[in-house]
Amino acid sequence: MKKVILGNWKLNKTHREARDFFDEILKKDLSALSDVQLGVAPSFTSIGFAPEKDKRGQFWLGAQNVSAYLEGAYTGEVSIKQLRALDVDFVIIGHSERRALFAESFELISQKLNLALKHSLKAVLCIGETKEEYQAGQEQEVIEKQLSSAIEALEETQAKNLLIAYEPVWAIGTGLSATPDQVQKTHAFIRSLLTKKWPNLGNDLPILYGGSVKPENAYELFSEKDVNGALIGGASLKVDSFFQIAQHARRTS
Ligand code: PGA
Repeated sequence: MKKVILGNWKLNKTHREARDFFDEILKKDLSALSDVQLGVAPSFTSIGFAPEKDKRGQFWLGAQNVSAYLEGAYTGEVSIKQLRALDVDFVIIGHSERRALFAESFELISQKLNLALKHSLKAVLCIGETKEEYQAGQEQEVIEKQLSSAIEALEETQAKNLLIAYEPVWAIGTGLSATPDQVQKTHAFIRSLLTKKWPNLGNDLPILYGGSVKPENAYELFSEKDVNGALIGGASLKVDSFFQIAQHARRTS
């Protein structure tokens, strides 16, 4: 399966800084990475300043969030329709920061996911346990609940645009990545849940790992069978580290 390397810029970069990143990375020889899918999700304010689809080529443009509504009286929201008009390729849904800091419920996440997929946007569903849940040995239980509540109502035809990002909360932004063994074990569990629901498609859906991925640990993580790429926060902000991680992905493709 083609490895997928996505950046999540979170609340960083002005539109000018975002433009500089695109200028710099698109100058690189990306043809050597043609078997790796690349993409970044900047803030909404930068999306309209990203290079147009024909100029960014293999590079996906993403959003970090999307409204559960398509249009109407919802002050401050950004809709799928608006994202699609800017040729956005994917949206991140259910990131742990949105679950914890912005009180996103299972129900809201499921609504957003279903709507995004229905409107042919690729959706990266983030799931993962907290430190307390990890220490209590509850990671599988937590992951199963987060995944099944989000995909319960999803039809197989729409699910082909689904990607999963396993992001243990204790590894996000902490410098403490989960070990490749731990990640593989959890990804295999997620794979088993996906194939239980969709016996064929479940094997083709990318499962990305996120949580302190950097050039130093990327190769080992990507060498695991069910690690199909990464969702990268801090290390995606600089072209060099992002590009190096993508090169590691290529070495394991
Ligand atoms: P990190 O963030 O790479 O900075 O740990 C990952 C994420 O939150 O998606």
